Amino acid sequence: MDRLNSAARLMLVSDLDFTMVDHNDPENNDLLRFNALWEAYFRHDSLLVFSTGRSLTTYKELRNEKPLLTPDITVMSVGTEIAYGDSLVPDVYWEQYLNHNWDRKIVTEETDKFPQLVLQSETEQRPHKVSFFVDKAKASQVIEVLEKRLVERGLDIKIIYSGGIALDVLPRGAGKGQALTYLIEKFDGKVPVNTLVCGDSGNDAELFSVSGVFGVMVRNAQEELLQWHASNAKNNQKILHASERCAAGIIQAIGHFGLGPCISLRDELDSPEYSTQCLNPGFEVVNLYLACEKWQRGEVEKSEEFVQNLKSKFHPSGVFVHASGVEKSLNECLDELEKSYGHMQGCRFRVWVDRVSSAQIGSDTWLVKFDKWELSGKECRCYLTTVLLNLKPEGFTWMHVHQTWMNGSTLETETVWLF
Ligand code: GLC
Ligand code: MG
Repeated sequence: MDRLNSAARLMLVSDLDFTMVDHNDPENNDLLRFNALWEAYFRHDSLLVFSTGRSLTTYKELRNEKPLLTPDITVMSVGTEIAYGDSLVPDVYWEQYLNHNWDRKIVTEETDKFPQLVLQSETEQRPHKVSFFVDKAKASQVIEVLEKRLVERGLDIKIIYSGGIALDVLPRGAGKGQALTYLIEKFDGKVPVNTLVCGDSGNDAELFSVSGVFGVMVRNAQEELLQWHASNAKNNQKILHASERCAAGIIQAIGHFGLGPCISLRDELDSPEYSTQCLNPGFEVVNLYLACEKWQRGEVEKSEEFVQNLKSKFHPSGVFVHASGVEKSLNECLDELEKSYGHMQGCRFRVWVDRVSSAQIGSDTWLVKFDKWELSGKECRCYLTTVLLNLKPEGFTWMHVHQTWMNGSTLETETVWLF
């Protein structure tokens, strides 16, 4: 939360499954479009929050399967667990607070009496969350009776039904909405200028009730969320039911509510929506790597102009230190790139960056650090990358690039280097 010096321009709070992540899209096109948008235009002055029903265990599984960015704050297990930063430091105060009138043992004693409730996997049973599957047809009756019995036993609980199948029992003070309210209060003098919440299912409903927020229900939103909206927030102009699925719906909402740039560089290279963005190192990095990806995939026209434009971005005596320790001139790398036009055509080849951060270290010099991810077929590699950029009136010049392998990877040096 302390990454930014002033209030965030936008705090984007998104659910993961079928909101940020479209499980029907194996190419992850819209997720990658969102990633490029976020790192180019928002990372430096905004906050990304993931709010998921998943536990830490299954959240990590999803991170291994999908090209998710690293959020600033992660809210897990339906708002019962909050963690900060890259290293997921847990908020112990939040967990202590949730102990109020909560007794997990009493909950399970009562739920055991319902044969309709099928316990979810062990990983999803958490200190402040007891989770089941229950048929849609039986859900409302079970919820009504169970709630009554738990209240009779002195507990302050809430029951949430999601995706037409999952039933969670939580402390009354928990849930995605309560967790967000808690976070907003914690910002104290640095409350984000705008907040956009994004969701698709029942456990997301309370996000839309948090005071002052904009909200987007993605096109593929579940019946229970749409019903909640119809009965509780029908005339709320700050909630959009997107005509686009998942992450595409999030991008759509950013545009709809005027919360910032809404054209991803994946859709249009070199097109800063605001001219000032040209001076943003995040824009520079995302734009350059996408140009390289599209060149290798043969998705841009093979023209001398494109190559010259790329070449003009590099300092003639600039150096690239590859993760293997091998050093090359940036010119040599560009020559290799030039020859690699279309080499990745039709391949599962994608490049994206995460965690772009930068520091101005001189009047016209920036030190930029980020994770560069490269998916090639089934292999996915991550390079921690540092770049020295020099700002000239015509834009940034790349002076030096240095990479380190992440996750202890010791793969052989590749034939084609994408700095
Ligand atoms: C996620 C969790 C599950 C929960 C569901 C709905 O799928 O893994 O435990 O029931 O979200 O909140
Ligand atoms: Mg969801």
